[in-house]
Amino acid sequence: MPGALLETLSGANLAQRPVWLMRQAGRYLPEYRALRADKGGFLELVYDSEAATEVTLQPIRRFGFDGAILFSDILIVPYAMGQNLEFLAGEGPRMSPRLLDTTLDALSAVPQRLDAIYATVAGVRAALGPDTTLLGFAGSPWTIATYMVAGEGSRDQHDTRAMAYRDPGAFQAIIDAIVSITINYLSGQIKAGAEAVQLFDSWAGSLAPREFERWVIAPNARIVAALAERHPGVAVIGFPKGAGEKLPAYARETGVQAIGIDETIDPAWAHATLPEGLPVQGNLDPLLLLAGGDALDHGARAVLNAFADRPHVFNLGHGIGQFTPIAHVERLLSVVREWRPG
Ligand code: CP3
Repeated sequence: MPGALLETLSGANLAQRPVWLMRQAGRYLPEYRALRADKGGFLELVYDSEAATEVTLQPIRRFGFDGAILFSDILIVPYAMGQNLEFLAGEGPRMSPRLLDTTLDALSAVPQRLDAIYATVAGVRAALGPDTTLLGFAGSPWTIATYMVAGEGSRDQHDTRAMAYRDPGAFQAIIDAIVSITINYLSGQIKAGAEAVQLFDSWAGSLAPREFERWVIAPNARIVAALAERHPGVAVIGFPKGAGEKLPAYARETGVQAIGIDETIDPAWAHATLPEGLPVQGNLDPLLLLAGGDALDHGARAVLNAFADRPHVFNLGHGIGQFTPIAHVERLLSVVREWRPG
């Protein structure tokens, strides 16, 4: 028997909803902070496969989530494409040289930078029980490109959007290069033991409709199709954060097996508009989990009720915040586990 998460991703509408939380391994957990301090930094943790395996398992031991998500980062892909990567304390990621200042040809790929990640996947799979699903992931090409071009996170992805308008040919080449490594990378994770994968498109919301078609939908559709050919039956969860009214087109045209939705989406609208039977993942506001109390219980039940008539994986609309009290996570889990379709 596959676990509840995997069953839901393949279309089963279970009475008890599977649940995991984006960024469930991370700074809100004291055991994570201790191990990270011990290793000296985030990348040091990611590249120590034994430690990364341990971090992936920490929230599973504590809370018994239905899914474990590989502990790594979406920016490992540009790092393997040859950019330097650093995480500066309090400032976030920095990459160099940025593609605003250089071209793709100037980078030389370092594919060995992916090997430690595969080792982590294999280590986690070996340690997990059969009911806990192991999720691999990658950033989707548009979001990865925004970091590669600007060399850091940016408020509205201004430089990358401008480049895509100014020189669509050059930008297409960047997207194509990311598509190709991402297919191999996710395929490598699946071979190492990932049972489903998620494509994080954190900045999908910044694009105008035609650009969304070209830079979000089309590249993701190519990744989904290539993985379906290499690994039939392995689900891809697409998470186009901020996509709003473009979600139904994303769902239909990418061919993803499940769709993650953020907290700005009205669940009733999503249920009414998304393709019938398509599994949905989401979408409690992470700030409601931070706040706790009755509002948390009601908010969680409202999400559960809205998706009662389709396969639903309970999750947040975005990653869990670092100041979230552990007691609120425990409370949320008891609400989700006690809920039954009315
Ligand atoms: O969900 C999970 O638990 C799996 C691991 C994971 C991380 N990042 C761990 C991490 C995943 C899936 C990501 C995705 C990711 N990384 C995204 C897409 C999702 C999103 O949040 O929008 C993006 C845009 C990144 C890039 C990135 N990595 C940023 C902007 C930061 C924040 C830098 C900071 O100082 O807060 C990171 C670092 C990062 N990735 C942390 C974790 C747990 C914090 C590292 C630490 O300081 O310990």
